[in-house]
Amino acid sequence: VNKMQMLYEGKAKQVYATNNPDLVIIHYKDDATAGNGVKKGTIHNKGILNAKMTAQLFTILEQRGVATHFVKQLNERELLCKKVEIFALEVIVRNVIAGSMSVRLGIAEGTVAESPIYEICYKNDDFGDPLINDHHAVALHLASYEQLATIYQMTDIINQQLKQMFAAMDITLVDFKIEFGMTLTGAIVLADEISPDTCRLWDANTHEKLDKDRFRRDLGGIEDAYIEIANRIQNYYLTV
Ligand code: C5P
Repeated sequence: VNKMQMLYEGKAKQVYATNNPDLVIIHYKDDATAGNGVKKGTIHNKGILNAKMTAQLFTILEQRGVATHFVKQLNERELLCKKVEIFALEVIVRNVIAGSMSVRLGIAEGTVAESPIYEICYKNDDFGDPLINDHHAVALHLASYEQLATIYQMTDIINQQLKQMFAAMDITLVDFKIEFGMTLTGAIVLADEISPDTCRLWDANTHEKLDKDRFRRDLGGIEDAYIEIANRIQNYYLTV
């Protein structure tokens, strides 16, 4: 496939058209933002690490029955993906309480959830990606109730699979954000990325934070944390 014009540029990625109308190329940048773009920086080689981690995790998820937009990795920063229309929803799953839920509801970070907690947010920078419920999503024409049901079913399977995969790497999957898209043929698929930018990942033994919270909270050692996660995913990937 040939790379053509840029269709979209986000905070961490660019999306390019290709000569095949069904396919796009997603380019992973080193840029990092936090707090809806208030804090800005770059994380050295993040784009390379996140592209590879997403490619490997999506490959394993596909093997386990989750439909994704991923086709193949083209080079160290670029993934070939099915063209989708992204639902303007961020789906968040929490297995352990942290971040905004900890602050919003006054629950200590690290408290294990009784059962997985599902949240949806309206993906809209002007409003700071506000937490909404299914009725808001339908009223805003973000998805139908039927599509939401499919999205929740897929999310539940993705959480079970990811929890098990990360546990095998001695990593606690605290929480994560995923996005879904609709292909040109109308299938709902997992899209976007899964990386330390979009997951909270704690070392299972030391509880050390190995994710973007090191950038958000100025903890230092961000590059090393991403390399550590990439190495553990790579080692796991080679065993499956
Ligand atoms: O900030 P909050 O605690 O709600 O984040 C929950 C999870 O969703 C975290 O893993 C975070 O990295 C991810 N997230 C994201 N993009 C956002 C908001 C949250 O990847 N815009």
